[in-house]
Amino acid sequence: MTANLKIRRVAGALGAEISGVDLAREQDDATIAAIRKTLVEHQVVFFRDQALTPAQQVAFGARFGPLNIHPYVAGMPGQPEVMEIVKEPEDRINFGGGWHSDMSFLETPAIGSILYAVEVPQFGGDTLFASQAAAYDALSDGLKRTLEGLSAVHSASREYSAQGHSAQKRKGMQVAEADGYVGEYVHPMVLTHPETGRKALYVNPAFTLRIDGWKTSESKALLGYLFEHCRYEGFTCRFRWEKGSVAFWDNRSVWHFALNDYPGQRRHMRRVTVDPWPAMAEQAVEARLAAEPVS
Ligand code: SIN
Repeated sequence: MTANLKIRRVAGALGAEISGVDLAREQDDATIAAIRKTLVEHQVVFFRDQALTPAQQVAFGARFGPLNIHPYVAGMPGQPEVMEIVKEPEDRINFGGGWHSDMSFLETPAIGSILYAVEVPQFGGDTLFASQAAAYDALSDGLKRTLEGLSAVHSASREYSAQGHSAQKRKGMQVAEADGYVGEYVHPMVLTHPETGRKALYVNPAFTLRIDGWKTSESKALLGYLFEHCRYEGFTCRFRWEKGSVAFWDNRSVWHFALNDYPGQRRHMRRVTVDPWPAMAEQAVEARLAAEPVS
């Protein structure tokens, strides 16, 4: 049966809450299409009062694309697509505690992530989202034109190194260090969304190392400017988690940031990460090739 979805916007730049659907059930194609349309339009969508087993979360996520198995974060035993994002009361470091776009360090980055709250702290632990489409729209025409011709190099080598935030030792999670050469991948600095045609900036402070063809020192000023610009409060929304809440964000147009403001409390989330369907992966490669200068 097609769910009777109700959609309520939560902020000016991005974000909508969807009610009227039980994500634990198998959804018909029309419901999945409606959720997908709402997601790409609002860039991040939220659901309340859900009760999902890991298998149900996998089944829901797999309707949007193949699920990613994270190269550094251990998945659940028997359910490797499900990452458990846990901060124990004695942990000081959280996971995702800096602005980023999931998996931009891969050759084919994820299109979305679905995060489900199993246990939340009494206060704190909200997640911030920032619209990179709004950040693009706010640039001058001159800078837009400059960025359209540029690509940037992304890698996990810094963030998942022994010194990086993500791979720090903690009690709640097992995160491996990126060992040796982990690869660098070039993505356009401006992505045109394959479903909406809307443009968004596609660089992030965690995984973007430099502008392609530029030295790291040369890239610093422009990337530094963009990283400041992209997190302007007017481009953001903030999600207050409750047990059973779900957030589903579009990695092609959204940054996110998990706040670490709940010392001594436990927070337990489960994430599945959606890769593009193979045809969309092909389009992404074609778009990247088209963005590369002809030698
Ligand atoms: C993440 O970066 O995927 C984690 C977000 C969160 O725990 O709020």
